[in-house]
Amino acid sequence: MTALLAEILDRVEKNDVIVLYSIERNLTRYKYVPLEVIERVSRLPPSSIQKSIKRLTELKLVRRRLGNFSGYTLTYRGLDVLALNSLLRRGYITRLGDKIGVGKESDIYIAESPRGLVVVKLHREGRTSFSKVRRVRSYAQEIEGEDWIRVVKTIGEREFKALVELRSNKALVPEPVTYNRHAVVQEYIRGVDLYKVEDLDEETARATLADVIETLRIAYTKVGIVHGDLSQYNVLISEDGRGYVIDWPQYVYKGEESSGELLFRDVKYITSYYERKFGVSVDAGRVLKYVKGEINEKPL
Ligand SMILES: Nc1ncnc2c1ncn2[C@@H]1O[C@H](COP(=O)(O)OP(=O)(O)O)[C@@H](O)[C@H]1O
Ligand SMILES: [Mg+2]
Repeated sequence: MTALLAEILDRVEKNDVIVLYSIERNLTRYKYVPLEVIERVSRLPPSSIQKSIKRLTELKLVRRRLGNFSGYTLTYRGLDVLALNSLLRRGYITRLGDKIGVGKESDIYIAESPRGLVVVKLHREGRTSFSKVRRVRSYAQEIEGEDWIRVVKTIGEREFKALVELRSNKALVPEPVTYNRHAVVQEYIRGVDLYKVEDLDEETARATLADVIETLRIAYTKVGIVHGDLSQYNVLISEDGRGYVIDWPQYVYKGEESSGELLFRDVKYITSYYERKFGVSVDAGRVLKYVKGEINEKPL
């Protein structure tokens, strides 16, 4: 049984973090960072490094390779600890809480912060070659090769920046707080995933769909992007009856070739879900025109 991330954070000592950081910094030059390099970069005495390496290995934060080119690399948990440690040290979060969600491409934690509860989204896309990675990869030129750390860091930064742009244009998305490495800190929305909502009164159903449509319109006309993965799994219905669109890192720019097709799909998926599940009828063609800014009359 692996320890909870919050427990791991408690058990990791200052020197362990220095060792982790020394490994991280050198992963651009080595696939497995040799012990000599860790010793040189960390400036810690060898005995202390030995102790840290032992603990980090037990906690599964680093992985060792034996043989001619022996050395150490980070695991996902190792990168998590580095990111969370920075967030804690800088005061963006004060305590890590439980995992509240496992998306197919991220782990979501709740955390306490000076501004209240926040969510820490730890990106995991490098783990496998999901479509999101491929899509982000083909548009974010900086991602090359199979370097998973660079992949997840780029995706984290991409999501944070999209949220900043969307929020500053008044779209109904979680307010971004900061990001560090592959971790995106954002406002915690108290509510339920749309796919889990069984009953919604007609008024709330219409209002939340209208919220989603408004966000798509702001994204397209003001920010110039298309979500690209919209469905009942990426909409949150808040306790106060609003519809938030979450999970943005795979967005495409509206000038890109696939954007038209993706926008059509986003609109079709969400309108047909509302129709099927809650009986909200709306003309998807008109929604599409409204989202693109071709008409101004609200479709709902
Ligand atoms: N800001 C948030 N507030 C509350 N819950 C959230 C928030 N962001 C994500 N979640 C929860 O975590 C789940 C996965 O998040 P999401 O951003 O969709 O990641 P993934 O890429 O893994 O699908 C969501 O379905 C939701 O239940
Ligand atoms: Mg999602």
